[in-house]
Amino acid sequence: MSLETEINFTLNGRPVTVRVPVAMKTLTMLREVLGLTGTKYACGEGECGACTVKVDGRTLNSCLMHAVDCDGRELVTIEGLKSPAGMNPTQKAFVDHGAVQCGFCMPGMIIQADYLTDDDPQLTREQAQRGLEGNLCRCTGYTKVLDAVEAAVEAKRCGR
Ligand code: FES
Ligand code: FES
Repeated sequence: MSLETEINFTLNGRPVTVRVPVAMKTLTMLREVLGLTGTKYACGEGECGACTVKVDGRTLNSCLMHAVDCDGRELVTIEGLKSPAGMNPTQKAFVDHGAVQCGFCMPGMIIQADYLTDDDPQLTREQAQRGLEGNLCRCTGYTKVLDAVEAAVEAKRCGR
């Protein structure tokens, strides 16, 4: 019999109450309990960044975090990134620059890029490259990803 507990947290701006097995990881809770499949499972070992989410404003790999540790915290997934007006500047920059190929890495990549560009309005291309080192992409070669991040920095600086 698996031990379960009830947790309460904020998910993409809305309060959530859910019962989860104590051993369940946040990624599994998001995908299999809450039906938010935008966050991807790839390595499951903290190596690829496909499962990146924001927790209390910082990014982390949801495949490593126990769901019970979400209690009382604020999570944002790729589903929560867009505004009612449409895509946020980071999402729009990735689309505009053709930075997406198969797309599997993109939810994590965009969450991380959004965090980096929010955290540092002066973010350079080199800093972006270092900040995205934990987000692996098998398709793009990263050039267009970095072009997109530069555009997101500029768009946020201009308030677009
Ligand atoms: S699935 Fe979490 S880091 Fe790869
Ligand atoms: S776009 Fe295919 S893995 Fe990144």
